Amino acid sequence: MNTESNSVRPTRRSFIYTAGGMAAGTVLSQFALGQTPVGANDRIGVGFLGCGGRGSYHAKELAGMRDRGEAIELVAACDTYRPRMNALAAKQNLKAYWAQQELLADANVDVVCIATPDHIHGQQAIDAVHAGKDVYCEKPFTHWRQLELTKTACDEIGKSDRVFQLGTQGLSDPVWHEMAKFIKDGLIGQPIHAECGYFRVGDWGERGMPIDDPNVKPGDNLNWDAFLGDAPKRDFDASRYFRWRMYEDYSGGPVTDLFPHSLTPVVYMLNIGVPSQAVGLGGIYRYPEREVPDTFNMLLDYPEKLTLAVLGTQGNNMQGAHGRGAGGRCPHLRGWDGTLTVMPNRDTKLDEIVFTPAEGAKKDAVRIRVEGHESVPDHWKNLLDCMRSREKPHSSIDLAYRVQTALQMAAHATRNGKTAKYDANARAVVV
Ligand SMILES: NC(=O)c1ccc[n+]([C@@H]2O[C@H](COP(=O)([O-])OP(=O)(O)OC[C@H]3O[C@@H](n4cnc5c(N)ncnc54)[C@H](O)[C@@H]3O)[C@@H](O)[C@H]2O)c1
Repeated sequence: MNTESNSVRPTRRSFIYTAGGMAAGTVLSQFALGQTPVGANDRIGVGFLGCGGRGSYHAKELAGMRDRGEAIELVAACDTYRPRMNALAAKQNLKAYWAQQELLADANVDVVCIATPDHIHGQQAIDAVHAGKDVYCEKPFTHWRQLELTKTACDEIGKSDRVFQLGTQGLSDPVWHEMAKFIKDGLIGQPIHAECGYFRVGDWGERGMPIDDPNVKPGDNLNWDAFLGDAPKRDFDASRYFRWRMYEDYSGGPVTDLFPHSLTPVVYMLNIGVPSQAVGLGGIYRYPEREVPDTFNMLLDYPEKLTLAVLGTQGNNMQGAHGRGAGGRCPHLRGWDGTLTVMPNRDTKLDEIVFTPAEGAKKDAVRIRVEGHESVPDHWKNLLDCMRSREKPHSSIDLAYRVQTALQMAAHATRNGKTAKYDANARAVVV
């Protein structure tokens, strides 16, 4: 921990412990329940679970926000590979915790940044809210296999009073909020169809998934059991550990790795629930060394009477005319009265929200310049503001549930060569 900065800028909890009287007593009793409120001017402490590519990136962005005057402090780091944990702790002057529960017990940590492999997120998010922490959880919310955990994590986080933001940072882009307002105001009429997708070449994470040390063995420097979590028990394999994205025990390929970015804004804009049915097609068409598909396409039918297509491959990243939106595939939202999308103006090179009336619709075409863009600091800022106001962040827990359940339905449908259905009463996926 950065003791020098602590002494200059007391943390919220150091204030709580030195303040007297009723107010401090009240706060302390809440603290005992793990429910410390964050005041308007309190400095928010961040702890990092996962110090790989994404965790390090978040730490860098948050350090930048702090240096620009945001009231945050980078407090602690935890990772199952000690050299990465120590490297991030040294770089950002953090306390290093080898055991996750020690980081979660640190009273200076207000919010936990979860940037571990996909299959670890859900349980860590539960652990974090049980420890009284607010959460920034990287996407996907859960692993494709974890149908029950998706429900449990949603329920546990939902019934806590903790603030949860899923790391689909695209939702910090104001464009989706403007488009959602158009749809709510009836511009496209009754929604009936939507398409979106994600296209890129390769997918190796922020750091290219290097094997840091091919000779490492589980022990003091590497906690293989904690990495495995609820995944099938296997003997240690350095490739599985460092290149987990290639393996279906820990990853799902585009459906859960990339489509959260594409689908979340669409589900948000259309304000739809969980699909009634899902199908998917795809396979390993370019990268035979992987277990997970590199190409995946899915169709979702919603009880709101609309179909949603999510398309993608990691074998081509041609963005065509539609540059904005995750992976270069802008959503097209079609209603009875017309289609709403966002696309670049070839003259100004700036993006515009574009509404094209459907044949016969008595509506005018619309083109509106888009301000702003997708930004991880803005996504964090939204969470930090909500930690103070206790409002729901943009990528809230209920949105995470709706999106992840749809993705899991498509993943299971594809694996089984069947249609997946959602039993809304039981909140269960049936394949
Ligand atoms: N939102 C985005 O645009 C975006 C971008 C990149 C990655 N991500 C997500 O971030 C997550 C991490 O991806 P990455 O590229 O940083 O992977 P990575 O392999 O570089 O980092 C993961 C880290 O987690 C550690 N780890 C594994 N199990 C752990 C456990 N139980 N507790 C603590 N640490 C553990 C590993 O040692 C590793 O250092 C993924 O889920 C990925 O989908 C999101």
